[in-house]
Amino acid sequence: MMTTLLGGLSPSRFLRDVWHKRPLLIRNAVPGFAGLLTSSEMQQLASRDDVESRLIQGSGTHWQLDHGPFSKSDFKRLPKIEWTLLLQSLNHVLPEADALLSRFSFIPHARLDDLMVSYAVPGGSVGPHFDSYDVFLLQGQGHRRWQISTQTDLTILDDLPLKILRRFKPEEEWVLGPGDMLYLPPHVAHYGVAEDACTTYSIGFRAPTTEELAHGFLMHLQDTLKLEGRYADPDLRLQAHPGEISRAMLSQIEGMIAKIKWSKRDIAEFAGRYLSEPKPNVFFDPPEAPLSRAAFNKQANQKGVALNPKSRLLFTRGRFFINGEAFTPAADETAALQHLADQRHLAPARGTPPDVYALQGARPAGGLGAAPPLPATLPERFYDWYEAGWLEIETE
Ligand code: SIN
Ligand code: CO
Repeated sequence: MMTTLLGGLSPSRFLRDVWHKRPLLIRNAVPGFAGLLTSSEMQQLASRDDVESRLIQGSGTHWQLDHGPFSKSDFKRLPKIEWTLLLQSLNHVLPEADALLSRFSFIPHARLDDLMVSYAVPGGSVGPHFDSYDVFLLQGQGHRRWQISTQTDLTILDDLPLKILRRFKPEEEWVLGPGDMLYLPPHVAHYGVAEDACTTYSIGFRAPTTEELAHGFLMHLQDTLKLEGRYADPDLRLQAHPGEISRAMLSQIEGMIAKIKWSKRDIAEFAGRYLSEPKPNVFFDPPEAPLSRAAFNKQANQKGVALNPKSRLLFTRGRFFINGEAFTPAADETAALQHLADQRHLAPARGTPPDVYALQGARPAGGLGAAPPLPATLPERFYDWYEAGWLEIETE
């Protein structure tokens, strides 16, 4: 499959030749794209306490960072140049942003983080910097001049609220217009400056450090570990120094600690929970007036279901993970759940009997009514997720 999104590269060629390896400029990656929000819509979102927002002002070595929520008067006080408003996780609050993010499904969901948007007035920038994550920078309205550098000197300036490179030596430069996109692997230095009032949509990825993963795994072990035994010393000998921890004591403790073992299954269980865990600032909104179970099933059958944009559903080796929780579905639930995890939507069961979820694409030949009935446990599961705000009736 060739896509304009990747400048004519197939996703597999992009992954082989570009991903995590080298920058790539893609002109007209999303034809017709001119952003999803106006500046006043962005300012409105920045006034919400459930939307993470930041305001960055400055240039050179003078930078100011403020965290939202912001009021209308905060924006009125701003100069005409050199500021940027950033909104994090736009995909959580805007269905169009979630749809934009789904274009990047050629990268595993477990790696995908969120969609950030920046609005900048002329001269607006977050300064020359580098990120530890891969990023696609998709230009919405207006124009931004990007300079990039593969320099290895990543020293940052001290005592600033932002990570600004002390020395930035640009190697390449482009002005991006609506629909153009720049892909950057981690640690490529970049400096984007708004030419005119412009928006940039950043598709960001998750890449935990070894320390974060190890720490998370140790916490997981702590919760799941079951060990037998207790310290015992029937062969205790009289010590010259009662205050001393003897070698015998240490070697017994060493043997006890050595009983901590884990298997591939523990790693998979931890990874599933960890990678499906939403960020700590994510809260789900359960429906205010939830449908009854019967009404939910009926509507789900008619319209289909979709994961809430904040939900993370992943699977490995027959085990499924949603928002940090693990479960093993019945064998006949697996296909539908895999489809939901991959596509984030499950199509309605057209013409099939009630209480049956059918899978578009997985429907056997034979026309209407031929979809295999799925087990009763699936609607039960979906209803629980619906009540938690994790899953919704499809709206289209
Ligand atoms: C921006 O959109 O202004 C900054 C995005 C980035 O450099 O990662
Ligand atoms: Co950056």
